[in-house]
Amino acid sequence: SSSKSSGDVKKYTVATDSNFKPFEYLNPITGELEGFDIDIIKEIAKRAEFEVEFETMDFDGLLAGMQSGRYPIGVAGMSITEKRKESIDFSIPYYDSGLILMVPENSNIQSIDDVSRKKIGSRQGSTSQTYLKEFTSAKVEAFPEIVTAYLDVKEGRLDGALYDLPNVKNYIATEGENKLKTVGEVLQGESYGIAFSKGSEIVDDANKALQSMIDDGTYAELFEKYFGE
Ligand code: ARG
Repeated sequence: SSSKSSGDVKKYTVATDSNFKPFEYLNPITGELEGFDIDIIKEIAKRAEFEVEFETMDFDGLLAGMQSGRYPIGVAGMSITEKRKESIDFSIPYYDSGLILMVPENSNIQSIDDVSRKKIGSRQGSTSQTYLKEFTSAKVEAFPEIVTAYLDVKEGRLDGALYDLPNVKNYIATEGENKLKTVGEVLQGESYGIAFSKGSEIVDDANKALQSMIDDGTYAELFEKYFGE
């Protein structure tokens, strides 16, 4: 769904999520969509000279929408995987991530090796859900929104949750101080890429724009804004 707007500038719908801090979330006061991903794609659009309009949805729906070619662009802390590359084109990687296990502060789970038969939360369609199913014998409970899993861990209904390191860290720092902790090593290094519908003509220009942001320090500024201490 691209359309010509005033002048000759193309406008693309960008599929995103509204609940993956600090990559995309709604500002609690203004209600505006904000985050690292949002700033990155806005700057790319500026440099590659196209316009964007955002459409928010849950991650599972976003993934399906990208795979079916329904959206031209998707930005949602999406990990680049071989499987997804069959149906989605990705930009060059823009963020190095990985999965981490979060448990209650008083848990005796010390790493992913201890999750057999434990109830571990995750998010539907995410790489952590796949990881749990493939590499552990945990009882996996996958939710449409990860915060449901986080809350269940905090309140003792789940034994732990496995999810993306930056998001887990953000949750513990803002809502889990003295109640939640991470254990074990970062599992499965993953890189996030901006998603494009298969065969998209925008990928090259977007990559050039992204590379220029890396080269001129704009990327580092945004990184500092969202991940600096
Ligand atoms: N990086 C993980 C994946 O690609 C989780 C991404 C979740 N992103 C989001 N906006 N909710 O599967």
